[in-house]
Amino acid sequence: VSGQPSDLRVRKLRPDDAASVVRLLHQLGYATDEVEVRHRIKSWARDERATALGASVDGRVVACAAVYVVPFFERPGSRARLVALVVDAGYRQRGIGRMLVDRAREFASRRGAVEIEVTSRRTRADAHRFYTDLGFADVSGRSRRYIAEL
Ligand SMILES: CC(C)(COP(=O)(O)OP(=O)(O)OC[C@H]1O[C@@H](n2cnc3c(N)ncnc32)[C@H](O)[C@@H]1OP(=O)(O)O)[C@@H](O)C(=O)NCCC(=O)NCCS
Repeated sequence: VSGQPSDLRVRKLRPDDAASVVRLLHQLGYATDEVEVRHRIKSWARDERATALGASVDGRVVACAAVYVVPFFERPGSRARLVALVVDAGYRQRGIGRMLVDRAREFASRRGAVEIEVTSRRTRADAHRFYTDLGFADVSGRSRRYIAEL
């Protein structure tokens, strides 16, 4: 299968998309349930710094991405952070990921972000090619990433 489905639409996720989003997050490697995802979709919708987007075909969500805008303190502006980007395995390499990232970038620019970042596991080689093809630079040589549990 190739080419974009004719009825492809990018829109904000709605609580009723929760079941589809659970399946997508599972493909990304995260086990979660519908109640939790429904709640998360609602809380992201209330937050003006955030948006959770879905790409739908025939009304069914086949891809999602979320973006959050974090203000700098040390300098003007904000940086957007892209999270939970996944396209259903049956719909990949048809431009849907690119569309979602474009929309996430538009949202972030409107909210004052001057750049957008994403972190991606070293094992996700396809995703790395995708990001570099979309103009993201690999800065892992420039900064390390540290995490502490709270
Ligand atoms: C990474 C992912 C989101 C890309 O979405 P997609 O809809 O398949 O990507 P697109 O069709 O929009 O591709 C855009 C460009 O990225 C590149 N690209 C995408 N998939 C690629 C692959 N498997 N190998 C090489 N390049 C690829 C191509 O240059 C493509 O441009 P082209 O269509 O002009 O050739 C999708 O493969 C996916 O969901 N993967 C599993 C989950 C994942 O790894 N998510 C990222 C977590 S950080």
